[in-house]
Amino acid sequence: MKSSANPIFILILTLFFSHTYLINLPSVAAITSMKPGDELNHSQVLDSEGGKFKLGFFSISQTNNYYLGIWYAGDPQGKKLWIANPNTPLLNNSGLLTIDTTGTLKITSEGKTVVNITPPLLTGSLIARLQDSGNLVLQDETRNRNLWQSFDHPTDTLLPGMKIGYNLTTKQNWTLTSWLSSSIPASGAFTLSLESIEDAFQLLIRRRGEVYWTSGAWNNGIFPFLTALNDSSNRYQYNLNLVSEKDGVYFQFDAPDRSFPSLVLNFNGAIFGGDEDSRVYALYNEFCYGYESQDGCVSNQLPECRKDGDKFEQKSGDFIDRSNSNIYDNASTSLGDCMKRCWEHCSCVGFTTTTNGTGCIIWNGNGEFQVDESGDTVKKYVLVSSKSSNGKQKNWIWIVIVVAIVLPMLISGFICYIIVRRRKLRAEKRREEEYIRELTASDSFNDTNLKEKDGREVQDLKIFSFRFVLAATNNFSSENKLGEGGFGPVYKGKFPDGREVAVKRLSRTSGQGLVEFKNELILIAKVQHTNLVRVLGCCIHEDEKMLIYEYMPNKSLDFFLFDPERKKLLDWQKRYEIIEGIAQGLLYLHKYSRMRVIHRDLKASNVLLDENMNPKIADFGMARIFKQNETEAVTARVVGTYGYMAPEFAMEGAFSIKSDVFSFGILMLEIVSGRRTTSLQQFDRPLNLIGYAWELWKEGCALELKDPALGDLCDTKLLLRVIHVGLLCVQEGATDRPTMSDVISMLGNESMPLPTPKQPAFFTGRNEAESNSSGIKAEQCSVNDCSITVIEAR
Ligand SMILES: *[C@@H]1O[C@H](CO)[C@@H](O)[C@H](O)[C@H]1NC(C)=O
Ligand SMILES: *[C@@H]1O[C@H](CO)[C@@H](O)[C@H](O)[C@H]1NC(C)=O
Ligand SMILES: *[C@@H]1O[C@H](CO)[C@@H](O)[C@H](O)[C@H]1NC(C)=O
Ligand SMILES: *[C@@H]1O[C@H](CO)[C@@H](O)[C@H](O)[C@H]1NC(C)=O
Ligand SMILES: *[C@@H]1O[C@H](CO)[C@@H](O)[C@H](O)[C@H]1NC(C)=O
Ligand SMILES: *[C@@H]1O[C@H](CO)[C@@H](O)[C@H](O)[C@H]1NC(C)=O
Ligand SMILES: *[C@@H]1O[C@H](CO)[C@@H](O)[C@H](O)[C@H]1NC(C)=O
Repeated sequence: MKSSANPIFILILTLFFSHTYLINLPSVAAITSMKPGDELNHSQVLDSEGGKFKLGFFSISQTNNYYLGIWYAGDPQGKKLWIANPNTPLLNNSGLLTIDTTGTLKITSEGKTVVNITPPLLTGSLIARLQDSGNLVLQDETRNRNLWQSFDHPTDTLLPGMKIGYNLTTKQNWTLTSWLSSSIPASGAFTLSLESIEDAFQLLIRRRGEVYWTSGAWNNGIFPFLTALNDSSNRYQYNLNLVSEKDGVYFQFDAPDRSFPSLVLNFNGAIFGGDEDSRVYALYNEFCYGYESQDGCVSNQLPECRKDGDKFEQKSGDFIDRSNSNIYDNASTSLGDCMKRCWEHCSCVGFTTTTNGTGCIIWNGNGEFQVDESGDTVKKYVLVSSKSSNGKQKNWIWIVIVVAIVLPMLISGFICYIIVRRRKLRAEKRREEEYIRELTASDSFNDTNLKEKDGREVQDLKIFSFRFVLAATNNFSSENKLGEGGFGPVYKGKFPDGREVAVKRLSRTSGQGLVEFKNELILIAKVQHTNLVRVLGCCIHEDEKMLIYEYMPNKSLDFFLFDPERKKLLDWQKRYEIIEGIAQGLLYLHKYSRMRVIHRDLKASNVLLDENMNPKIADFGMARIFKQNETEAVTARVVGTYGYMAPEFAMEGAFSIKSDVFSFGILMLEIVSGRRTTSLQQFDRPLNLIGYAWELWKEGCALELKDPALGDLCDTKLLLRVIHVGLLCVQEGATDRPTMSDVISMLGNESMPLPTPKQPAFFTGRNEAESNSSGIKAEQCSVNDCSITVIEAR
C-alpha cells in the first residue's frame, strides 16, 4: 500500500511523539474503585479491574494544563484514550476527582468544582470503576446497573468495544471529536460519525459540520476508504463490525493482535492508529481539497482561483514577502480551519498555525518561497500550484473562457508572426555568417595561407545587418553617394553612434566577385596600420556584398593631385609626407604585417586622405597574400590598372613585392609632377610619365618634372632625390628595383649614395619619339634654371 511510503504519517507521528506524549506522571498508589466521598488526587490512579487501563491526572508538558484521562497501563506515554475535561483544563495539579453527595462525578480544585463529569446519579450504592475495556462506569452496585459510562462520551479515540453510531431509542449519538491541536484536547474542527447516506452506512468526517471525508459505503466488512488497516504482512488486523437495527446503527472494531489498539481522529482530520506503530487509516494526503473523490475526500465546488491538483505542502523556510501576512489569533481555531481559510481566499499562498497549534498566520502575495534546506526554520504550508486545470467550472466561467480563447488566439497569432519573422531573420543571418565562414575557409585560395601559424581563423569580422546599413546610408540615397569605385558605388554612412563610415556596395555584376571580397575580408582582420584604410566590417544581403570602411573626409589623392585648383593645397611638405606615408603602409604590407601582402593595385585613387591629409592605402580587392617565404607568383588573370602595372606583371602575370614597388615609383613621379601617369597629351609628346621623367633625368634637368603648382618653395634637393628613387622603382628589371625598406632608407637618409637608375620599363618602344623630340626638350630645359639647380644639388 502506498501508506508505507507516505511522508504525511511520518509527520503526524512526529507531531504526536514530540508533543502529546511528553506527559508527566507521578508515582501512584493503586485504587480500583471509588465511592461517594472518595477522592483521587494527582498522585493517585484508578486501575482497571484487569490492570489493562489506568485513569488519573496528567499534564501536557507543552501547555502545563492538567487533565483527567484514561490510558493503556502498558503505554503510559501513549495517546490518552479518553479525557474527562477536554475543554476545561486544570491550570495546576491541585485537581481532585470525587463523587459528591448528589452522586455527581466531578473534578474539584481547592474546594471548588471545576467540571461535572456526570449528571447527579442519585442512588444508594454508587460505585465508579474502570473496566478492563477502558470504560469508566458508574454503577448502581446493588442492582448491578450501569448509570453512566465514558464509552458513551467518547473524545477523539475509539477503543475496541466503543461504538460510533446512534440509537434513536436512547437518543445516543456516538461521535469522535478531534483535538484542537496536537497539544490541546479541546474540541477541534473535525468530528467522526456514522451516518446513513443513500441507504448506505458510511463513516463521515465533518469539518465544522461540513462533510469533509467519507469512508465509502460499508460493504462486506470493509469501508473502502478506511484503508491501510493491514499490517506489513498484509494481514487485516482490524476486525470491523457494523450493527444495524431498526432503531439505530453502530460501528465497532477489534484488533486482538495489537498491543494497544485504538483508532484516533487526529486534529488534522485524518484517522490513524494510536498504538505503537501508527498508520494512517484514512486520508493519506493531509488535507481534502474538494477536487478529489478518491481517498474518500468529498468533492466540493472549488474556489474560482484554485484548480485541480493545487495543494499545500509543508516546507521549512520563509516567504520572500514575509510581511505580507495576517494573523488570526483565535484560541479555538485549528490547523484545519486555517487550511480552509487559506484555500478559499485567492490571495492566500500559505499558512501555518501560531505556536501552540491554534490561530492562523495567512500569507498573501506572490508566493515566492525561500526553502531552508537545513529544515531548521518553522515549517509552513505552502500552496503548490498544479499545472493541470480543472474542468469543473461554473457555467458563466465558460463565457469567460470563450472570450479568453479568442484573445489568446489573437495574441498567439501575433507571437507566431513575430517568431516566424525572427526565425526568418535569424536564418538569414545564419546564412550570411555561413557564407562568410565559407569565404574565409581556404578552399579557392589553396596557394595562400589564410590561417596564421597558430591556426586561428579570421576574426574581428563585424557583420552588419542589411537593415543597419540601409539606415546608416539613408537607403543608399544619392546624396550619400561618395563616388563610383571600380567595383561599384561608395556611399557615405553614419552609424547611430555618430561614427561616419564609407560603404562600398559591390555591384552584383562587378568583377569583384567572391575572390576579391574574400581578400578584403581576410585583410580586415589581418592588417592594421595607420596608413591603411580600416575595414570595419561587411554586410551580405542576398547576392549583394558590402564593405564598410572608416570614412575618409578628404577623398582620395587623385582628387587633389590632378585638379588644377585643389593641387595647390598640397604643398611640397605635404606631398613628401604623403609619399612617406604610402611607403610606410606598403612596407607594412610587404614586411611587417602578419602576412606578406602584395597590393597589386596601388594608384592615386586608391590612396585616401583623412582629415589631416594623411594617406591611407585602400582597396585590397586585388591584393594577394603570400606565405612568408614566398616572394613571387604567377597568375593567369592579370588585374590592376594600366599605367601602374609593372611590366613583368602586365606581360607575364608574374608579380611580387617589386610589382608594388613599381606602382609606388609611378605614384612618386605623379606626386612630384602633379600629372597622371597616362596623360601627357598636354605636352604634345607621345610619352608616358615614366618616359618623360626618364628623358628629363637623362638630360640632367629632372627638376623640370616638378609640378608648377608647387612654386619655388620647395626643398629641391629632396625633390630630386624623390625623382631619383622614383626612377629606381620603375626600372625594367624587378630585381633592380629597391625594396620598400630600401626606398624608405633612401628617402630618409640624404647622405646615402643612390645607384644610377637603369632604363625604366615601357620606354624602349619610345626611342623614335625620344629622338624626334630631344631637340625641343633640350631647348626647353635650357630655358629653365634646372641645370643650375642640378648643379646646386650636388
Ligand atoms: C493523595 O492522597 C493520598 C491518600 O489520601 C495521600 O496519602 C497523598 O498525600 C495525597 N497526595 C497529595 C499530593 O495530596
Ligand atoms: C489551581 O487552578 C485552579 C483552577 O484550575 C485555581 O482555581 C486555583 O486557584 C489554582 N491554585 C493555585 C495554587 O494556583
Ligand atoms: C450525530 O452527530 C453528528 C455530528 O455531530 C451529526 O452529523 C449526526 O446527524 C448525528 N446523528 C444523529 C442520528 O443525530
Ligand atoms: C488486507 O488484506 C486482505 C487479505 O489479507 C485483503 O483481502 C484486503 O483487501 C487487504 N485490505 C486492504 C485495505 O489492503
Ligand atoms: C438502542 O437502545 C435500545 C435500549 O437500550 C436497545 O434495545 C437497542 O438494541 C439499541 N439499538 C442499537 C442499534 O444499539
Ligand atoms: C474563533 O474560531 C472559531 C472556530 O473557527 C469560530 O467559531 C469563532 O467565531 C472564532 N472567534 C473569533 C473571535 O473569531
Ligand atoms: C495558545 O496560544 C494562544 C496565544 O498564542 C493563547 O491565546 C491560547 O490561550 C493558547 N491556548 C492554549 C490552549 O494554551
